[in-house]
Amino acid sequence: MQKCEQECGEEAWRIACCSRVGKIAICVMSIAILYLIISALTPTESTHKAADLDVPRAGINLTRANQVLTSLCDAYERGDVSGDSCNRLCYDRNWLVTDFYEGHKTVVIVKDGGQTAVYKSTKPFMNDFDEPQDHLTDAQFSDRVVDVVNNELRLGWPKHYSRHLMETVWPTLLRTKGEAMSRADRRSLWALLKQPEFILFRVLPLTRVTPKLIGTCGHMYQTESLVAFKMKGYYTNLKAKILVHVMGTLKLLYEFLDEPLQWCDVRFDNLGLSADYPKRFVLMDGDMVYTKSKLDSLLKGRPCETDDDCKIGDCTARCTANMVCSSRSNGNLEVFCDKLVNKLFANQWSKNNKYLVACRDTGRNITTRLNELRLTWSWNLPDV
Ligand SMILES: *[C@@H]1O[C@H](CO)[C@@H](O)[C@H](O)[C@H]1NC(C)=O
Ligand SMILES: *[C@@H]1O[C@H](CO)[C@@H](O)[C@H](O)[C@H]1NC(C)=O
Repeated sequence: MQKCEQECGEEAWRIACCSRVGKIAICVMSIAILYLIISALTPTESTHKAADLDVPRAGINLTRANQVLTSLCDAYERGDVSGDSCNRLCYDRNWLVTDFYEGHKTVVIVKDGGQTAVYKSTKPFMNDFDEPQDHLTDAQFSDRVVDVVNNELRLGWPKHYSRHLMETVWPTLLRTKGEAMSRADRRSLWALLKQPEFILFRVLPLTRVTPKLIGTCGHMYQTESLVAFKMKGYYTNLKAKILVHVMGTLKLLYEFLDEPLQWCDVRFDNLGLSADYPKRFVLMDGDMVYTKSKLDSLLKGRPCETDDDCKIGDCTARCTANMVCSSRSNGNLEVFCDKLVNKLFANQWSKNNKYLVACRDTGRNITTRLNELRLTWSWNLPDV
């Protein structure tokens, strides 16, 4: 006791460290403090990930990315282009580019005050696009816009609704009622209309399977940032959930207007998760998404020698006896089964899972299976 008192000194400490309970308490506290110190020094999984997002992906050409953005903002400052995202994008030009790629599209991803902004275009520079004809009246320009959209979507937009269409493709018109579009506005819109994905995202948000369009600047459009879905081993436990997401997307494709929307580039790589939609995947890339009439116009009557000449991605047609292609012969359901569901569920299937039955039950034809699937959707996915 004497020794203990010498070691422990002060009154309070003496009570704590000279009793057995006190010794245990000190021991537990030291362990707790040690744990806190260690966990403060080693970043946890989540803080680690957040930090990673602020660092450019390895191997991207930052010089090139900055060149693309600088050239766009120079054009904006000269008054050659316009768009509702320009002000924000070109405000201080202090871009933190986290990703960049150039392939069939130029995509720049920047971190802007904690938010991720995605800018896309089929070509890197504004000068890569044709300019609209000069000296068109507003009415003539709107008519051209209706023609371009009709040629892309084949939904037969009537010319007398051109004003509504103009407000859809160029929403600034809603805020500046009656004001004419400037030359910069027309140039920017014209470049955007040369890009099928822009038209799809902008004019048909009612598909509800495409990313939201947040704004535009010159020839680039800013889309909602999605979380890319990556098929990994640990997802196997989530298969049933993934299947519901896949079915939500398929349902929406079939429910689009009177005719199903045709998706000809079906891959898990192409699916993203949007914060706003809990039961569906969003198509990250809209390049091979067509209205039925548009796909028909691309396939039907195309000269062919074999069925192989009648393919657009996953969308296939037959080469008829007249040596021209038929309209599409397979459907979204078959492709979804082939490229997604069967990959997810390899050989397993259960008669209790109606979604799997739709893909596996070869005893009945595809029309019957699709009709049964529609019934299942209306029971199980009414809110998608
Ligand atoms: C990066 O981009 C710049 C500017 O376009 C180009 O000159 C350079 O060669 C590129 N670097 C690589 C490694 O591709
Ligand atoms: C599919 O099967 C149903 C019922 O068995 C039949 O009525 C229908 O004509 C078939 N459709 C096709 C395209 O073969």
